[in-house]
Amino acid sequence: MTAPLLHGRVCLVTGATRGIGHETALGLAQQGARVVLVARDARRGQRVVEEIAMRSGNAAIELFVADLASQQSIRALAADFKRRHARLHVLVNNAGALFPRRSLTVDGIERTLALNHLGYFLLTELLVDLLRASAPARIVNVASHSHTHGLVDFEDLQSQRRYGGLTAYRASKLENLMFTYELARRLAGSGVTVNAMHPGTVATSFGLDEPGWFKLVKTLIRPLLRTPEKGAETAIWLATAPELAAVSGCYFVDGEERRSSRRSYDREAQARLWTMSEHLTRRTAH
Ligand SMILES: NC(=O)c1ccc[n+]([C@@H]2O[C@H](COP(=O)([O-])OP(=O)(O)OC[C@H]3O[C@@H](n4cnc5c(N)ncnc54)[C@H](OP(=O)(O)O)[C@@H]3O)[C@@H](O)[C@H]2O)c1
Repeated sequence: MTAPLLHGRVCLVTGATRGIGHETALGLAQQGARVVLVARDARRGQRVVEEIAMRSGNAAIELFVADLASQQSIRALAADFKRRHARLHVLVNNAGALFPRRSLTVDGIERTLALNHLGYFLLTELLVDLLRASAPARIVNVASHSHTHGLVDFEDLQSQRRYGGLTAYRASKLENLMFTYELARRLAGSGVTVNAMHPGTVATSFGLDEPGWFKLVKTLIRPLLRTPEKGAETAIWLATAPELAAVSGCYFVDGEERRSSRRSYDREAQARLWTMSEHLTRRTAH
């Protein structure tokens, strides 16, 4: 009998209560990993822990509760994780949302930027020493094809002058790619890889929490969309495939490496975004 592929590996998945994150966590659990789910609602999270443990036959499923739109909560999550785990082999940054109306987080930061980009940035920064110590290790950033229409306005990073939900979302997904490429360079030679992916257009609850035209369109086209299980395939593959052990700083769609938008490769912009992200998460440059 062969041992499960990921036996002894610790994987952390954000946004694991539903959609792509849920299926990614399930897929990793089915391969024998110890899977840590991050959820913002303890009861919903606990239900998912039990469901994934039952469906995968893997009892090593754990829950951490955190609101990834709150920096204090992200810091508490990272500290708590380090208290309970000496190793982290896979970090899947997945939790994200589209907000039709502009709002601010507890940190006073525009919510799309805070959750979709700074959530990835800060959690990764706080866990990167553990990932390095656990190498070989992998980071998977769930981005989106919609980054191709994205524009990062450094003069108005928080959309104070003008806000559109889709515009802010596309910018945040471009930021996921810029962050991935800059981080890959910083991690070169460390044994920690970082890649980004697009899951396809998936029939999840994404965009359905809030009223608006996006919800209407998504509800109408729902039968045409791919399943969350299919949407999670590339993330699971990036987290596990032996042939990707040394591949870093790349963008994948449907299990294939693709070029992302021209803007995403602008190194000066990547460095600028990094510095601004450090500033917004109150970290000093290193
Ligand atoms: N669906 C698509 O077609 C599509 C296409 C391209 C890219 N993506 C990307 O895929 C990722 C996952 O999307 P999805 O479609 O699976 O969405 P989803 O079904 O709405 O799931 C989003 C997940 O993120 C969690 N989350 C949201 N806000 C959070 C917060 N403040 N703190 C902690 N967790 C939070 C949600 O938790 P709750 O259960 O508590 O709400 C949920 O588990 C996103 O990054 C999205 O940009 C999706």
